[in-house]
Amino acid sequence: MDLTHEIEKRKTFAIISHPDAGKTTLTEKLLLFGGAIRQAGTVKGKKSGKFATSDWMKVEQERGISVTSSVMQFDFDGYKINILDTPGHEDFSEDTYRTLLAVDSAVMVIDAAKGIEPQTLKLFKVCRMRGIPIFTFINKLDRMGKEPFELLEEIESTLEIETYPMTWPIGMGQSFFGIINRKDRTINPYREADKLTLDDDYELEEDHAIQADEAFQTAIEEFMLVEEAGDAFDREKISKGDLTPVFFGSALSTFGIEEFLDTYVDYAPMPTPRKTKAETEVAPTNENFSGFIFKIQANMDPRHRDRLAFLRVVSGKFTRGMEVTLARTGRKSKLNRATMFMADDTETVNEAFAGDIIGLYDTGNFQIGDTLYHGSKVEFEELPRFTPELFMKVSAKNVLKQKHFYKGIEQLVQEGAIQYYKTMHTNQPILGAVGQLQFEVFEHRMKNEYNTDVIMEPVGKKIARWIENEEAITDAMNSARANLVLDRYDNQVFLFENEFAMRWFSEKYPEIKLYNLL
Ligand code: G4P
Repeated sequence: MDLTHEIEKRKTFAIISHPDAGKTTLTEKLLLFGGAIRQAGTVKGKKSGKFATSDWMKVEQERGISVTSSVMQFDFDGYKINILDTPGHEDFSEDTYRTLLAVDSAVMVIDAAKGIEPQTLKLFKVCRMRGIPIFTFINKLDRMGKEPFELLEEIESTLEIETYPMTWPIGMGQSFFGIINRKDRTINPYREADKLTLDDDYELEEDHAIQADEAFQTAIEEFMLVEEAGDAFDREKISKGDLTPVFFGSALSTFGIEEFLDTYVDYAPMPTPRKTKAETEVAPTNENFSGFIFKIQANMDPRHRDRLAFLRVVSGKFTRGMEVTLARTGRKSKLNRATMFMADDTETVNEAFAGDIIGLYDTGNFQIGDTLYHGSKVEFEELPRFTPELFMKVSAKNVLKQKHFYKGIEQLVQEGAIQYYKTMHTNQPILGAVGQLQFEVFEHRMKNEYNTDVIMEPVGKKIARWIENEEAITDAMNSARANLVLDRYDNQVFLFENEFAMRWFSEKYPEIKLYNLL
């Protein structure tokens, strides 16, 4: 069997969006197209997906579904497509960001009425910094929303990326009539009845031939403008994430999805190489199996300590039972229990190829960022750290349990569940996170796995900035509004009260060079 052929068939992406933009609906429709599910509603039901944060543990236990819906594979047009879920809502955590490290492209779903929203922006920035190609799906055209030009303008100015509309909408809301497909220059009518007003073989050059209403006229004029004045198509720019192909549609009505998929499989990259610590690259077609762990899902049931580690296959082929080495420790083990994820099921995986994601059952051997390989040694570069936004002081309720307390923190920090900081002189532990959920998971796991009750005291939302020239810091710079703390590597970090405090600081101390992580 031809390894290269298998790998070229693979497309691995994540959907980035703000809650409610339509990520779940789009995922479902993509799976329907691929024949992976038979009916909508199989992917995490919206209603069951909405829950209060405090219910999280219970829900997590009940819905094994959060594991199954983390990665889904389906076939389309000869391709094997892997969709990775980027948890949002109350589930938002560093895992959400790290998922983006395991994909080769991203699909950005935007609600046409809302435009760019905060969570989309955050995830987009990570894609941009990693040079991940981005495809944009503007959703909910069946409702009234912003004008298409306004949306493109918003994407271009807010996200600093060029846009290339692949489809163009004809009207919206009640008078949404369809989309113009730029690639093959056809019109796809929204309703069956609209077909009657259209000539199926309609060519743009023959626009006198059509008796269209106002919506068609406007759309065609706009479309011409896009053709004349819009950004030029540039495959190279797409692959670097400098230009995003844009699609309009309605996920709910399964409209515009096929146009999207057709183009997506054409332009989305096949599995890309990954950098190693030795500053070399491992190509996906390298015969030797290798991969890295980007997410560890702890089992919330205290009777079952096993965890599921998600591994992105970087090169070669995985086969069940194969012997691999964990680069960090040099330890060898056989991978007998690996799963792959289908829409409504997990199944034992017998083989997987570069680009695929497999789940490995783990009893505590793996950490986030770990490399597994077969054959000659490789170790992938460290996964980037993300700038936390929320902080919490933490201490052990029972002072006699300090040892357990620090052991628990150390392991959870290593695992990537939470970030560790401490106050400058008193060494009081402070936890950092990108989402509230991380604190709750921390508290729960400290109690269940390390038998330690903790006291958590919110420090609140802060802007964290690292310092290029630490030697220039003086005691006078440390204040309540610009609080100096240490990270787990003993680097100094300022926690600013807000944007204003940060600007004020930078003006007062221009010699201090601040930076943030991804
Ligand atoms: P998410 O995963 O990004 O959070 O979004 P999800 O797909 O769950 O969609 C959010 C809501 O938007 C859902 O409504 C869904 O039916 C609706 N929606 C998704 N795509 C479209 C579309 O193309 N057109 C229209 N009109 N609606 C769309 P819901 O389940 O009824 O919840 P809600 O409306 O009560 O929030």
